[in-house]
Amino acid sequence: MTDIKKAPKTLSGNAPFNENNQILKGRHLLAIEDISVAEISALLDLSNQYVDLNRQIEKKQSILHGRTHINLFFEASTRTQSSFELAGKRLGADVMNMSVTTSSVSKGETLLDTAMTLNAMHPDILVVRHHASGAAELLAQKVSGAVVNAGDGQHEHPTQALLDALTITRHLGKLEGLKIAICGDIKHSRVARSNINLLAKMGVEVRLIAPYSLLPSGIERLGVEVFTSMEKGLQDVDVVMMLRLQLERMDGSFIPSAREFYHFYGLDDNKLALAKPNALVMHPGPMNRGVEIHSSIADGPQSVIQEQVEMGVAVRMAVLDALARNLPSGPCYDGSGSNEGHI
Ligand code: NCD
Repeated sequence: MTDIKKAPKTLSGNAPFNENNQILKGRHLLAIEDISVAEISALLDLSNQYVDLNRQIEKKQSILHGRTHINLFFEASTRTQSSFELAGKRLGADVMNMSVTTSSVSKGETLLDTAMTLNAMHPDILVVRHHASGAAELLAQKVSGAVVNAGDGQHEHPTQALLDALTITRHLGKLEGLKIAICGDIKHSRVARSNINLLAKMGVEVRLIAPYSLLPSGIERLGVEVFTSMEKGLQDVDVVMMLRLQLERMDGSFIPSAREFYHFYGLDDNKLALAKPNALVMHPGPMNRGVEIHSSIADGPQSVIQEQVEMGVAVRMAVLDALARNLPSGPCYDGSGSNEGHI
């Protein structure tokens, strides 16, 4: 087993985040809104090292050796849960997956009861996905270990925005000054919210393209430009980020029909031609082919959708590593959650 160098090598050549090798200031990662440009940059730099590591045959690290990492998923997930699981395992943690269908939540137990039961087992890191906005933050107030938000309702999905940013910087070399369009069901999307927060912080010109019914009211306050026409919004953009129509979150009729939505907002060759030549095409998955994106574009030369999945594992390794640096490391874990005197 070989440990990668602890000190992050930064893209910018700056010194590591601080003398303690700390990357994140807080104990948890709940939202992009809570973290600074310096923290985002340090996480992306560390993620780049994990991309290199993941491309090697020997991937096993011992940074999380002895730590317990629990994935607590109250919503179905394929890529996010498996990505976190692989990330924890590659770093040497004991990883346990708990999903709602097998848990006593289906027997009426509340989120906090479940959390307190798990907390009694002394997990060091809890990765949580829940259908209610704010669930991860609530949990973070109650448990002793670190909490990572893997998607809470329509609020945030911070590791998705980080992996998107990593994918973009590896292709285009920077974020600042780029024009990026986020298109489709913005209203119901935590991916959109985390991306807007991250990209705006990093100096990107963010455009949102959607029908009014799929735009949250007052979204312009986040410093984005809003378009209701793909033809206008896609002009000259460097990146086109498509979103899934989140039908399971729609409690009314937000679009006349999937066919009509595709006609106006689905990404096809004609619409993509309006963006810069070689503009990147992204999608967080799972995709509705033929609803928000044409299959040939999803699989075409401008698509970086599979790379986003690869970057996801690296970003989650960087996040787990960064949070582990802030965990108590003394001989006895008193469960208070305090890390005073330990780092
Ligand atoms: C996203 C999610 O769950 O918020 N997917 C993901 O994390 N891969 C987006 C979506 O479900 O459309």
